[in-house]
Amino acid sequence: MKTATAIANPNIAFIKYWGDKDPDLRIPANGSISMNLGDLHTVTEVIFDANLERDELILDGRVPGEMAIERVTRFLDHVRLLAGISDFARVTSENNFPIGSGIASSASAFAALSLASATAAGMKLDESSLSRLARRGSGSACRSVPGGFVEWQAGEEDANSFAYSIFPPDHWELIDCIAIVSQEHKETGSQDGHLLAETSLLQEVRVADASRRLDLCRQAILNRDFEAFAEVVELDSNLMHAVMMTSQPKLLYWQPTTLAVIQAVGEWRKNGTPVCFTIDAGPNVHVITPGENSPRVIGDLIQIPGVSKVLVSRPGAAVRLVGD
Ligand code: PMV
Repeated sequence: MKTATAIANPNIAFIKYWGDKDPDLRIPANGSISMNLGDLHTVTEVIFDANLERDELILDGRVPGEMAIERVTRFLDHVRLLAGISDFARVTSENNFPIGSGIASSASAFAALSLASATAAGMKLDESSLSRLARRGSGSACRSVPGGFVEWQAGEEDANSFAYSIFPPDHWELIDCIAIVSQEHKETGSQDGHLLAETSLLQEVRVADASRRLDLCRQAILNRDFEAFAEVVELDSNLMHAVMMTSQPKLLYWQPTTLAVIQAVGEWRKNGTPVCFTIDAGPNVHVITPGENSPRVIGDLIQIPGVSKVLVSRPGAAVRLVGD
């Protein structure tokens, strides 16, 4: 029996990935920039065992549906191919945050699974190879492999589509205050959503302008320029949701409270608080603010009717093995 355990943080994208050039290999339509969320994590143990007749998955203490198991098996088939082994695996994964509601649980899940399964299978992969492997499980997972502030270069093929760190976690103490509006599993996950991106008339212009937004975002983080950062982060989130809302069929992830939080954040910024929002494929709102403002922002967010709780995270580290 070969075993390894890894821990990974999810990430929040400031410049979003939406739509693929190659859906099978998950080569994205555009590059993206994110920050790892150090206070949220997935811990995953992988045991390859010659006595197993199929892969087994325990997710937060439960056996999940067949689709989740198939997705893990497809991923592990690739690991087995790379490592030249044939044993099935028992995978046990625990999250300390709600999954399936627009907090990128698949990112930390596949980043942790990549390191744990590659190690258990006897491989020692460098960071970019590990990021490429994680990308096959879930695109955004490739960004949870390196630490801190991370850029995923879109690339054209498997070999050049991976993520790397652009700034360490302590470069800028940005806090993600995640206003939880709903913990329900969303109807259309990002896997299916990416396939619809091309059906929106707006996707082409969103993608065509992506390198400009990436430059603005990278520069704003470099200079710790919150005003410039806020402008490009909100623009990018709105562009992605405009594509979602104009897809066929349309995807509308927002709920009334989502909009209430967007409006409150706008007011606070107008009144001088450095704060901005970004939203993934779900109704919850990621409210970003420099560290010193976070206690007040958290206190104000929880007052908004419909916000059930606020998860809080600082920038996080790279994926790593546990118990080494
Ligand atoms: O990695 P996926 O397939 O879960 O896609 C992530 C999509 C967004 O979270 C909406 C955007 C992003 O870049 O993380």
